[in-house]
Amino acid sequence: MACEIDPVKAEGFAGSLIEMINQGAMSIMISIGHQTGLFDVLAGLEPATSQDIANLSGLHERYVREWLNAMVVGKIIFVDDTSTYYHLPMEHALVLSRKFPGDNIALFAQYIPVIAGVEQQVIHCFKNGGGVPYSEYGRFHEVMAEESGQTIIGALFDHILPLIPGINQKLEKGISVLDIGCGSGRALNQLGEKFPNSVFLGIDLCKEPIEKARKSAEEMGLRNVFFHQADLTSFRLDAEFDLVTAFDAIHDQARPDLVLKAIYNCLKDNGVFLMQDIDASEKVYNNLDHPFGRLLYSISTLHCTTVSLAQGGMGLGTMWGTEQAKRMLKQAGFNKVTENRLPHDLMNCYFVVSKN
Ligand SMILES: C[S@@+](CC[C@H](N)C(=O)[O-])C[C@H]1O[C@@H](n2cnc3c(N)ncnc32)[C@H](O)[C@@H]1O
Repeated sequence: MACEIDPVKAEGFAGSLIEMINQGAMSIMISIGHQTGLFDVLAGLEPATSQDIANLSGLHERYVREWLNAMVVGKIIFVDDTSTYYHLPMEHALVLSRKFPGDNIALFAQYIPVIAGVEQQVIHCFKNGGGVPYSEYGRFHEVMAEESGQTIIGALFDHILPLIPGINQKLEKGISVLDIGCGSGRALNQLGEKFPNSVFLGIDLCKEPIEKARKSAEEMGLRNVFFHQADLTSFRLDAEFDLVTAFDAIHDQARPDLVLKAIYNCLKDNGVFLMQDIDASEKVYNNLDHPFGRLLYSISTLHCTTVSLAQGGMGLGTMWGTEQAKRMLKQAGFNKVTENRLPHDLMNCYFVVSKN
């Protein structure tokens, strides 16, 4: 069969491909601007030279100038026609600088270098199977903690807990809470501080975030928050909990099915399971216009799918889909599942789940 090529379509696609590669490169530059504090220095600053900006940031001018020029061609920062004075418009600073907490988009750019760091290992897995373990990801837990600091901690008391009717009163009175895949434990430590009569346990596979979580709890003087390093694939707890939470921590488990069943088994009959997880469809066709689709499938390939496969797991991936999530919750025995979306968190769905 003759294959006819439409030259206009071919040229259009080549153009958009170049644009994608350009934007990919900008993500790393944005990540650098975030980590070096350059966006914070530039937010609200009058037009300034690269030397002034370097001095204010405590960084080397030559690197700062090259970064500024990348930002200029990326239309993130403006420069005058002598290419001397650089300026970050306030409208851009709003989503780039830490001076505006809660709205920072730059922090998400850090995921690109994090996942790029394991590119070669993942290519090896494409050819040989298997997966890349958590231990290979340099800054994953650090970036994750920063992200959840914004999506979870910033909204925990005003938006997330109110999804569970009456939970505030119960937490004030004193209940037991388990957090699955707690990472660096920021959510649990905040809860522990606010509700001293309740007891909190966080479990995570990885040593580094668990140690960080314990250290923070100690620094905060908390005596009601505990962290335990364990593989949830085979977890059995004698205790029963009134509330179980999982923030972005079910889909990349080795065996989400077993973890959900174990949550069911350790939840009191009148208890609640709050599961925050990715808001997407299990069918890729339905995700064509997903605002984070390209980012999330990429994170899935280079992180969520492979870390699960590395543990001999199911490798459901980031985009396991709300349809599959609800099916698996039902299979675990939960009869009541409500889905909630919160305006501050366009990436996730909040499932409030109970036995009856
Ligand atoms: C995407 S992170 C979310 C972390 C944390 N809940 C947050 O919001 O910052 C998923 C967490 O699940 C943990 N995890 C993955 N597989 C696990 C397993 N088999 N057992 C226990 N924890 C696991 C990871 O170490 C990681 O901290």
